[in-house]
Parts: sequence; C-alpha cells; structure tokens
Amino acid sequence: MKISIGSDHAGFEQKQQLVEYLTGLGHEVIDHGPDSDERVDYPDYAVKVAMDVSFKRADYGVLVCGTGIGMCIFANKIVRVRAANVTIPEFAELARAHNDANVVCLSGRFIDIDTNKKIVDVFLSTEFEGGRHAQRLAKLLPLERTGA
Ligand code: RB5
Repeated sequence: MKISIGSDHAGFEQKQQLVEYLTGLGHEVIDHGPDSDERVDYPDYAVKVAMDVSFKRADYGVLVCGTGIGMCIFANKIVRVRAANVTIPEFAELARAHNDANVVCLSGRFIDIDTNKKIVDVFLSTEFEGGRHAQRLAKLLPLERTGA
C-alpha cells in the first residue's frame, strides 16, 4: 500500500518509528516530515498528508501530533478525507468498517508506540463494510459541495 505520513514536533519520534515499521512491512511510505523535533505547526503537515489521500497519491494517511486532535480537525477540512482520531485498536477497526476513514490521527504523547503500531495495523487491514454505512457516508457529499 501507499501510505502518506506526517507529524509535528510532538509526534516526531513516533512518526520516525512508524515510517520504519511501515517500510519494513513492505508499504511505500511518503514521509512529509518534519525531519526533526524542532517546533512546527501541525496544520502544515496535516494538509500535506490529507491532500495525498484526497488526490489518490496515497491509499491512506497517518498523522501524529500530541493528541491527534489538531491533525484530525485540519485533515477533515480537505475534500474526500475522512480522518479519525484513534487511541485504541477497537476504534481503528470501527473507523474503517463503519466510517471508511482514510486518515488515522494518532497521539504521540498519550499513547505508546506499540499501541499505535497495533492501531495502524488494524486500520490498514480492515475493510469498509458498506451497506447502511455507505448510505450514511453519502450524506457527506452535499456538505463537501456546498459546505452547508
Ligand atoms: C503541540 O504542542 C500540540 O498542541 C499538538 O501536537 C497537538 O496535540 C494538537 O492537537
């Protein structure tokens, strides 16, 4: 799979570990940085990853900041992106199965790396269930067109 990834300073350490982990699993990883833990603004990285997913340059996006919340807020402003802030593996499964999430936003400060690796594993391996969930997600389309 092709995976676009980014973080801010708070998520940098785990982002580095996730790049290595995902590459080791055979995925093609687009790393949008940053390249150090110097302070940066998370919106800049959230938007780069979200644009990759929106324009199908990547199958999925992974974002890591302190909580995952700021990244998620910004990624969801990009059309066709359904970003989920996930802190337990069970929510990773539901975010894919029910919400067809295409970007997972992780907490680098409150969730340990092993749990975040598990979250990413589950996220990437769970299929969208479609059916009634697709009917609900279709209600996003007019909102994306008009913003209201
Ligand atoms: C940075 O201090 C922190 O605000 C950021 O990483 C993130 O948690 C925002 O949602």
